[in-house]
Amino acid sequence: MALLDVTDLTVSFDTPDGVVKAVNGMTLSLEPGESLAIVGESGSGKTQLAFSILGLLAKNGTAGGSIRFDGQEILNLPEAKLNAIRANEIAMIFQDPMTSLNPYLRVGDQMAEVLMLHKGASKRDAFAESARMLDAVRIPDARARLRMYPHEFSGGMRQRIMAAMALLCRPKLLIADEPTTALDVTVQNQIMELMADIQRDFGTALILITHDLAIVAGSCVKTLVMYGGRVMEMGATDDVFADPSHPYTRGLLNAVPRLDVPQDKLETIPGDPPDLTALPAGCPFSPRCPASHEPCATTMPVQEAFGAGRLRACHAAREAVA
Ligand SMILES: Nc1ncnc2c1ncn2[C@@H]1O[C@H](COP(=O)(O)OP(=O)(O)O)[C@@H](O)[C@H]1O
Ligand SMILES: [Mg+2]
Repeated sequence: MALLDVTDLTVSFDTPDGVVKAVNGMTLSLEPGESLAIVGESGSGKTQLAFSILGLLAKNGTAGGSIRFDGQEILNLPEAKLNAIRANEIAMIFQDPMTSLNPYLRVGDQMAEVLMLHKGASKRDAFAESARMLDAVRIPDARARLRMYPHEFSGGMRQRIMAAMALLCRPKLLIADEPTTALDVTVQNQIMELMADIQRDFGTALILITHDLAIVAGSCVKTLVMYGGRVMEMGATDDVFADPSHPYTRGLLNAVPRLDVPQDKLETIPGDPPDLTALPAGCPFSPRCPASHEPCATTMPVQEAFGAGRLRACHAAREAVA
């Protein structure tokens, strides 16, 4: 059984300017222990997808469709049930670790409290386990560090602490939303290695959300490319990188800095992100797509399987094969 099954998920927000359609029929599934990168430009709906899994949508948001976790429907569950799932089964780490860390409490007290509250651990056991967990995320001298406050750590170390906090209750799924965006490149690489280690050592399924394709290669087995709140394509990361099927994916890849391509030859995708209050009836990428033609703006391409476990939603890609 899949660990996570998202079916036809929609998320929209009521705003004074109209209805913002952030997620528009997403379907995806994740096996236990599997790793999936979700990539797309800023505004493509990645965070709202994650928030709907965790029941964290803003008050003006409405979600539809289905999210099954471990066989149970979790979309729009009552807050008390969601709290239990968030504490024990699904954990999330954010771009800014201070979203999860309390600046006024010692790291050890914050971590131990989680275990005492959710696992009924004794204070002594909770501190011992917290130290073990800091050790597991490669924080040296863990016992002494438990007595420190969040501001006494560097950005990269804080991100490690947040990962340790997220893992304390041994969740089955870890969602990391732009975990390295605020960090410099060396530290980014270290955190991505940590994510891969966590996934291996703890058997945790991982959803890594990022706008930065450069950090995806090597960190997740599968990659899903998202635009306008929809799946553009999905497949094994190596396949998607070596042989992108969707024009949007090709655009993203052309914009990734590479050692063998001079910086001034990088191409950004022309045009603006979609207006989510007035999406085209067809493919959301069609106004910017170099391969756009007659059906694209008016008819949404169906999501179809091709190749080795790949999916795509693109008229041009299908016609190219036919
Ligand atoms: N509470 C809200 N009210 C209105 N629009 C929102 C709200 N939250 C998010 N959005 C909009 O939803 C869209 C998708 O946002 P998000 O999922 O955060 O994008 P990403 O994480 O891919 O950058 C954005 O256009 C954003 O402005
Ligand atoms: Mg986001």
